[in-house]
Amino acid sequence: MELDWKNLGFGFRPTDYNVKCYYRDGKWGELEVSSSQYLNIHISATCLHYGQEAFEGMKAYMGKDGKIRIFRWQENAKRMKSSAEGIKLAVVPDDLFHEAIVKAVRLNKKYVPPYGTGASLYIRPLLLGTGPEIGVKPAKEYVFMVFVMPVGPYFKEGFKPVSIMICRDFDRAAPRGTGNIKVGGNYAASLASLEKAHADGYGTALYLDAREKKYIDEAGPANFFGIKDNTYVTPESRSILPSITNKSLQDLARDMGLKVEKRKVPVEELAEFEEAGACGTAAVISPIGKIVDPETNTIYQISKDGNPGPLSTKLYQRLIDIQYGDAPDKFGWIEIVD
Ligand SMILES: Cc1ncc(COP(=O)(O)O)c(C=O)c1O
Repeated sequence: MELDWKNLGFGFRPTDYNVKCYYRDGKWGELEVSSSQYLNIHISATCLHYGQEAFEGMKAYMGKDGKIRIFRWQENAKRMKSSAEGIKLAVVPDDLFHEAIVKAVRLNKKYVPPYGTGASLYIRPLLLGTGPEIGVKPAKEYVFMVFVMPVGPYFKEGFKPVSIMICRDFDRAAPRGTGNIKVGGNYAASLASLEKAHADGYGTALYLDAREKKYIDEAGPANFFGIKDNTYVTPESRSILPSITNKSLQDLARDMGLKVEKRKVPVEELAEFEEAGACGTAAVISPIGKIVDPETNTIYQISKDGNPGPLSTKLYQRLIDIQYGDAPDKFGWIEIVD
């Protein structure tokens, strides 16, 4: 099968099969394979009306040795469980989560982009309340499904610093809301601000804490980190998504001899960072060149020469080397799919 692997971009692309499993009468059924990209659900399903749905995003990578590697799936399973508990969805057991992602990857093996193209197979687990309700309450029936698609390297132009905009007139998540779980409502709430940031020429929006607007929360679909004085600094907040990439970068940073601080990060501290980045599954690290705060008329120029910083570059390389199997998996993050 011939796809233009080097120019895939990051967008939906059909593959041959997806898998799904229904939860009825208080229990999960058997995993089913389908080649349809449509789902037939009740018009009164809770996911449609009350946003009772959660999802995950992860990737499989083809190594030089021809083996397919899945990265830290246990962390995604754990996060989906916490999302399910947060909005009262049926919890997907780890073994079902694992069986579903492995099956979806195996069935679509020919879509795993070849080693060296910088592309990978994006895996999207999705959990929906499908039972009909019209009052606001959790559904009694659910569907858990997994579909996959090949996606390109996030950086079309290479690993280059982006400009981002501090967004003060929208909150993505409330202080004790659902920002710390991966549910659709958070993303709906971010669309207007992301569109504004893009229209104004920025790569993404950077959100501040909703209560005081004093501390950095996170960037669009990615966590924030800054580096100064040989220290990797990342926000501690109840309203940001615990990023698996960020967690991994913290381990790698420690391993490289950096200190790691997870704490509140005041906006003004942006002036002190020697490097900064947005991190997540899609981009690994998106280096941040400058951060603009239009409402206070402040520009934080992070990259002085237009290039990513040396430590961000090293962290990025170390992580993708593990993901593609070019470096030993010393943290036990990889599972090989036969
Ligand atoms: C809001 C948000 N923050 C952070 C991340 C990064 O998380 P991860 O590294 O687990 O992909 C994502 C993407 O999943 C996200 O949607």
